[in-house]
Amino acid sequence: MRSVNVALIGAGTVGSGVIDFFARRNGRFSPVPGLEIILQAVCDKSEAALNAAAACGCRVFADARAVLADERIQVVVELIGGIHPAKEFILEALRRKKFVVTANKALLAEQGEELFAAARENDVDIFFEAAVGGGIPIIKPLREGLQVNIFDSVYGIVNGTSNYILSEMAQHGRDFQPVLAEAQKRGYAEQDPTLDIEGIDAAHKLTVLARLCFGRKINFADVYYEGISQLTAADIRYAHDLGFCVKLLAIGKASAGGIELRVHPTLIPQDHLLAHVQGVFNAIFLHGDKVGDLLFYGRGAGKEPTAGAVIGDITDAARHADSSAGGRLWGVQPAADTAAIRPVSDLEMKYYIRFSAADEPGVLSRVAHILGSLGISIHSVLQKASPENNAVPIVMMTHTAKEKNMAQALREIDTLPVIKTKTVSIRVENL
Ligand SMILES: NC(=O)c1ccc[n+]([C@@H]2O[C@H](COP(=O)([O-])OP(=O)(O)OC[C@H]3O[C@@H](n4cnc5c(N)ncnc54)[C@H](OP(=O)(O)O)[C@@H]3O)[C@@H](O)[C@H]2O)c1
Repeated sequence: MRSVNVALIGAGTVGSGVIDFFARRNGRFSPVPGLEIILQAVCDKSEAALNAAAACGCRVFADARAVLADERIQVVVELIGGIHPAKEFILEALRRKKFVVTANKALLAEQGEELFAAARENDVDIFFEAAVGGGIPIIKPLREGLQVNIFDSVYGIVNGTSNYILSEMAQHGRDFQPVLAEAQKRGYAEQDPTLDIEGIDAAHKLTVLARLCFGRKINFADVYYEGISQLTAADIRYAHDLGFCVKLLAIGKASAGGIELRVHPTLIPQDHLLAHVQGVFNAIFLHGDKVGDLLFYGRGAGKEPTAGAVIGDITDAARHADSSAGGRLWGVQPAADTAAIRPVSDLEMKYYIRFSAADEPGVLSRVAHILGSLGISIHSVLQKASPENNAVPIVMMTHTAKEKNMAQALREIDTLPVIKTKTVSIRVENL
């Protein structure tokens, strides 16, 4: 029996799931005949986490440098999150020719190229299945089975917290703040929810996905993002009346004009598969030239699903680390940076707009004049009868318009004295 020794840095939510798995198997398991994977060491800042880890018979450390320096360790699993010192730990592991498993989407999105290059230089690899979609297998299919495809689009519901909040708002007609508070109570949202609700976490995941789908270097700064904190129950209800639902969508598209990357609340048709993704579930919808449409759906976070993805990666890493298992890995290949990244202001899309206007004649014509002067044509108008705070909500759907013209139109509309509150606009995707 050959063995591969693994060290885990970070025994929090996901790390404790990995430890539980090994603990139930006396600290070791055999994914293929003749190969045994042993959890040798666990490192964490918290004493309680280390006590729990010691129960599975592994050595425990408070300082990660001790496990990184240990030559017997062949696979290092980084589950502490954040940029520093996770980056330094991973670089040190790679420099010492250890394989790395991580779930750290923030680090991969912001510093991934440097890490992938270090892995190639040292003839080892980084596995990161859990970084996008938690328990959903998406990274391995993209790196392996789907590799021959040229993808032209990827759409993801990749943040469970936001999707839970939007689902609750839609189903029960509730506003954002109380639903967020309840999500925090139920453990679906962090005490500081900024990364999730402002679209940053989804933008990190889109950076990682787009790198694999489009084979281009993507800087996190290339991704435009907007969150869901400004959405109201009323807008979700009006969108529903028009045949749409609202999702926080991570969108990547490649065309002859370049690559667009954006995360924002999006109206999608109610009959699209992604519209049925509810609660904390995630889904990734792709289109490849060979395979056509593909949908990956499942639990995008949580201890067990995410730990499951990490254990799958540990198995892959161990099989590569065990030289006698044969077969060389390919690694994440260097990517081109030739395709242009299209700024969101250059894009063209359809829009939902809702303005709250004084209930008097001529309002519509003034708004229509501004839109028309910027080349934005109106597809339909829905006037809601009941005034809210002495203003009448008017909802419009536009035909395809330039984003920069829409931004200008909104600025001009909001200066009209008849407009009572800031106009809301939500982009529409006709998937
Ligand atoms: N939770 C999920 O469902 C999920 C899903 C997908 C991906 N991920 C990713 O998985 C990673 C881990 O997430 P998590 O939710 O498990 O985080 P977590 O619960 O906060 O666990 C992180 C653990 O690492 C410890 N730690 C932090 N800095 C350390 C250091 N320098 N040395 C040793 N230990 C250190 C922390 O200790 P202290 O608490 O004492 O700081 C904590 O016990 C993140 O990259 C996250 O984005 C998580």
